[in-house]
Amino acid sequence: MVSPQYLERAVEQFANNYWPEEAATRYIATAAANAPFEELKKCALFQVADEQRHLEMDRDIFVRAGVPERDWLPAWEQPGTTCRFFRHVLELEDPYEILVKANFVAEGAAGPGTFAVLADGAEARGDLLTAVNHRARVRDETRHISYARSLVRALIEDDPSNLDVIQQWQDESLQLFKEVAKGGARRAWWEGFLGSYYKIATPLGLKPTPISF
Ligand SMILES: [Fe+2]
Ligand SMILES: [Fe+2]
Repeated sequence: MVSPQYLERAVEQFANNYWPEEAATRYIATAAANAPFEELKKCALFQVADEQRHLEMDRDIFVRAGVPERDWLPAWEQPGTTCRFFRHVLELEDPYEILVKANFVAEGAAGPGTFAVLADGAEARGDLLTAVNHRARVRDETRHISYARSLVRALIEDDPSNLDVIQQWQDESLQLFKEVAKGGARRAWWEGFLGSYYKIATPLGLKPTPISF
């Protein structure tokens, strides 16, 4: 059992999990449809299945927590959420741009680190279902990050000038994510988010995005 107070704070977090998974089932389907080679299409198709599973898990968490469905979208559309970033990705058609922004930058930053922290936090508050959900997801997200990382490496090896384009995609993505740091109020979260991402991005030659609050 969890306290009503915990649930209230958790709704925004649930929305920040559920809607990106819902978006992922659609933008990764676009990436699969437009994939220029067979291996990439296969990776994207497997990911569609993963994201659908995550979506179902997050829907179940909302339902079990007793949050009325009419509250799910407003919780995500309010300022300070991941909404602006994912709506941007949903407008993209280029499979490389989708995979760099969503898998490499967003999942690379939020993926394993954030879900492990969320799992520990949920467990500490007695919300075991959420904890199990987050731990199961870490494995899938790690796979999504891995193939995006291979893609980024291949694109840069193929043509070093691709590094500039990828840098620009990173900058655009992190600027859109900035609002989740709530003007610096969630600084510890933001530092961890950037730290996870730069751990994979810096070795490939990418530079930190200048961001101020
Ligand atoms: Fe996912
Ligand atoms: Fe994913």
